[in-house]
Amino acid sequence: MYKRKIILDCDPGHDDAIAIMLAGKHEDLDLLGITVECGNQTLEKTGLNALNICQYLDIDVPVCLGSAEPIIKAVEICPAIHGESGLDGFDFPPLTKKFDERHAVTFIIQTIMNSKEKITVVTTGPMTNLALAMKMEPKIKDNIEEVVLMGGAYTNGNVTPAAEFNINCDPEAAYIVFNSGCIIKMFGLDVTRKVLVLPNIIQRMEKIDNKASVFFTKLMKVFNENQKKVFGFEGGPLHDPVTIAYLIDRKVCEMSFVHCEIDISQGSSYGRTNCDIFNYLKLPKNTYVATDIDVDRYWEIIESGIKKY
Ligand code: BDR
Ligand code: CA
Repeated sequence: MYKRKIILDCDPGHDDAIAIMLAGKHEDLDLLGITVECGNQTLEKTGLNALNICQYLDIDVPVCLGSAEPIIKAVEICPAIHGESGLDGFDFPPLTKKFDERHAVTFIIQTIMNSKEKITVVTTGPMTNLALAMKMEPKIKDNIEEVVLMGGAYTNGNVTPAAEFNINCDPEAAYIVFNSGCIIKMFGLDVTRKVLVLPNIIQRMEKIDNKASVFFTKLMKVFNENQKKVFGFEGGPLHDPVTIAYLIDRKVCEMSFVHCEIDISQGSSYGRTNCDIFNYLKLPKNTYVATDIDVDRYWEIIESGIKKY
């Protein structure tokens, strides 16, 4: 049976953790490795979180450390949402899993260049590792099936009125990737804000009663408390797994093919994903942007992902 080969580049992170869980055991996906960068927290912390998640969930793939800083901007982390550890709310058993020795950028380049089949790159953090890989070895672009990312918004941002956290962390990296000529699939706040982990969702997943459901429930309780404090949301938006859900079932989101430009002008819209949904500018289209999500289908995918553990 065909299995899509994917690399998951992330900065875990509560919702990144659920994306890893969803990708780790799905029969249609072949998770080749996890590459990590700074984002929600420092690289040291996001790296440890990725290792802990893989060890706890028995996901036996290489975990590679990558960029500790964005390309131009200074590091900006997000402890208000993800806590001091970057993944507050779950006590992992003692860690024995080790990092793969390769740098994330080396891993991305080697894996893509050595693959007979095209590889899908999923990013659920800033896009620094992928942008650097594209600059170090531009030939990888020819062997990328598509870049599937959580980031951006064509409506409002979540760190400035214009910008979403992942793109805002490293707008220049996003600029490089969006202008790479690769197929870009963007899942932004416009859809991820529709999939809120409301109390009934926590109860539903808790009932599954396995190691992944305990993991989901404990993490989401803390995630929700923080989302309530920062944004006033009753349930936190479960952003990052939308990427993986889309790879599992393309019907989960409606997509529109648009011209999208990343604002790197360093003004008040720095980091904005300017999506020309109405095609005002008649510029070449470079991005499939998610415009709607089937919320029920999404929770079914998450539920069946948890049941695989
Ligand atoms: C994004 O920012 C992070 O806090 C989440 O993990 C997600 O990737 C949402 O803006
Ligand atoms: Ca993330």
